[in-house]
Amino acid sequence: MDNHKTNTTDTFDYHEAFSRTLGWITEDELEVLRSKKIAIAGVGGVGGVHLLTLTRLGIGKFNISDFDTFEQGNFNRQAGAYLQNIGRPKIDVMAEMALGINPELEITKFSDGVTLDNIDEFLSDVDVYIDGLDFFVLDLRRAVFQACYDKGIPALTAAPLGMGVAFLAFQPGQMSFEQYFRMENCDADEKSLRFLVGLSPAMLQLGYLADQSRVDLENQKGPSTPMACEMCAGVAATNTLKLLLNRGKVKAAPWGLHFDAYKNQFKTTWRPWGNSNPVQKLMLKIARKSLMSQREQQREAKAGDVAPDMKKTASDIEQVLEWARWAPSGDNTQVWDFELLSDTSVRIHGYDTRDWCVYDLRGRASQIAQGALLQTLEIAANKQSFLVDWQLIEQSDESKTLIDVNLTKTQTAPAAPLLPYIKTRSVQRRLLKRNQITDRVKTQLEQIVGDDYSLIWVDGNSRWDMAKLLFRSAKLRLTIKEAYDVHSKVIEWDSQYSEDRIPDQAVGMDPVGLKLMRWALKSWKRVQFLNRYLAGTWLPRIQLDLMPGLYCGAHFILTAKKTPENTEDYLNAGRAVQRLWLEAARLGLQFQPEMTPLIFSQYSESGQRFTSDENGALQADEIRQRLKTFFGDCDLHSGVFMGRLGYGPAPVARSLRKPLEDLLIKSKEGA
Ligand SMILES: Cc1cc2nc3c(=O)[nH]c(=O)nc-3n(C[C@H](O)[C@H](O)[C@H](O)COP(=O)(O)O)c2cc1C
Repeated sequence: MDNHKTNTTDTFDYHEAFSRTLGWITEDELEVLRSKKIAIAGVGGVGGVHLLTLTRLGIGKFNISDFDTFEQGNFNRQAGAYLQNIGRPKIDVMAEMALGINPELEITKFSDGVTLDNIDEFLSDVDVYIDGLDFFVLDLRRAVFQACYDKGIPALTAAPLGMGVAFLAFQPGQMSFEQYFRMENCDADEKSLRFLVGLSPAMLQLGYLADQSRVDLENQKGPSTPMACEMCAGVAATNTLKLLLNRGKVKAAPWGLHFDAYKNQFKTTWRPWGNSNPVQKLMLKIARKSLMSQREQQREAKAGDVAPDMKKTASDIEQVLEWARWAPSGDNTQVWDFELLSDTSVRIHGYDTRDWCVYDLRGRASQIAQGALLQTLEIAANKQSFLVDWQLIEQSDESKTLIDVNLTKTQTAPAAPLLPYIKTRSVQRRLLKRNQITDRVKTQLEQIVGDDYSLIWVDGNSRWDMAKLLFRSAKLRLTIKEAYDVHSKVIEWDSQYSEDRIPDQAVGMDPVGLKLMRWALKSWKRVQFLNRYLAGTWLPRIQLDLMPGLYCGAHFILTAKKTPENTEDYLNAGRAVQRLWLEAARLGLQFQPEMTPLIFSQYSESGQRFTSDENGALQADEIRQRLKTFFGDCDLHSGVFMGRLGYGPAPVARSLRKPLEDLLIKSKEGA
């Protein structure tokens, strides 16, 4: 422990320094704040900002503790994290910073951190305690809060969650930390869950975590934001002020506050009996289940990644394929296998799904996906300073696509601005914002598809016409046996993620609708029954087609200037599709393909039979007539892709991919 009192510098004048707070508080109140002592355990992410904020508020005395030193990983959020402070003890840096604001401060530093042995000293003469300990330091936290309770010291915790703050105050004589969180006799995981669920009963932070894999529970690391830390300091300091100046009620546990700036939401929560409250118990149950499935997914994701030891030895082509496999494909079918030919070349064995998938008209959807694969591969190769040369090998079987790909090293790495979006790009099937897509954004998207392609935009009031067309097309989709056969195969139930299909939670239905859909898809008879007697197509058509058709910025149709005829043409179209989708992701747009009206229209245009349902062909003719109104003079067969885009949240559920190992022909044969 170090006592640190610096001489007042000649120029410093306490009243002058903090005079701008006057008005919100009186001069007398400022004097009160000056006489008070706050203890802050941990001066990293939140603790550091607490210290500076309270110093600026005019608090005169602090006990602070921390045993850690600054490193680069602290830069995103910690007040003292500067290049020049790397390797320095956080406690010294933060004390210096605070003294730079108020050189008259009395700061007592506990440089070995707060421990069971020094708690009494750490809390001696303290008026308010503020928690700045790392999330996972739970036993010590419990001990400090209990000591505060025993000594009659109000204790506050403000947790940075996502882009918001969850706040709890523990007041002497009211509910204690232990009574609220109930961590006794729990193992480490359970304690963390109880802390999280107790801190944020409103769970406002859910739903916008962009990359689940960044939550590393094994190593007790989670993602954080600077905004949340700043908000924590604001809320904690405000409540400290109220406590110290006796300025009205501070809501104490079992009350809690949660504000999420990202969601624009604020909730006051009330949980009598804390984590023993039935609502909390239910939440804990859900949280435990979700923790287990997260662990499972992380294990799977790790297995799907190139193994760490392989990473060093993986050939250039394998590293590129690691990225390429994230290309989109209809119903996540991943219609490719890879035969490694050398360290820099691969033969792609593409196949199509026309024998079981009605949407794969003449294998074109599969070829488009394979084109997207080629484009993704090229972006990843460019990033690693390789140029890509690919060649389609003539096949007698139209359903097979053999492509030889060679990488050649180049001195200057071509730009690969789309690389970061390869894994984050995903379908969003839920409602999007209706905000207009500006001409500037449209032009950027038109440029990325290149000179051989054009984009037809359907926006403004025309969205209504497109939504109606989608609604009609969905009727056909939901009433023919050929499409039922596909739907019953491609959905993975009860899932947020799926490696080889579409998880049900990414389909875009609400939970009740999903349950009904699951029941119906068990047999064709059930679908027929629902359709005949209960207008079974209405609910999914409204939720999956009509509403999304209206709620988006724009629909688009990608057309080729020269009508595609052969596999190579569709591969190139697929390349354009992937550039478009990645560029949309780069511009912050969500994206959903809407291929069925195009496919049914093209069946109709070419007179190809696709269903045993007599009425089906007639419906397809009508869809074609309607779709043609958007095409103007363009040939319907020049349309290669259709979809909608708009601003909105990223999907919370999505398809993943099969591990590279499973796609390698070599390893499949056990070579
Ligand atoms: C050629 C092609 C056609 C597609 N058609 C549709 C479609 O009509 N509706 C839809 O919601 N998604 C469609 N998708 C999206 C796929 O289902 C999706 O890309 C795949 O499940 C992988 O998921 P991800 O893109 O989120 O990674 C299509 C994708 C491709 C490549």
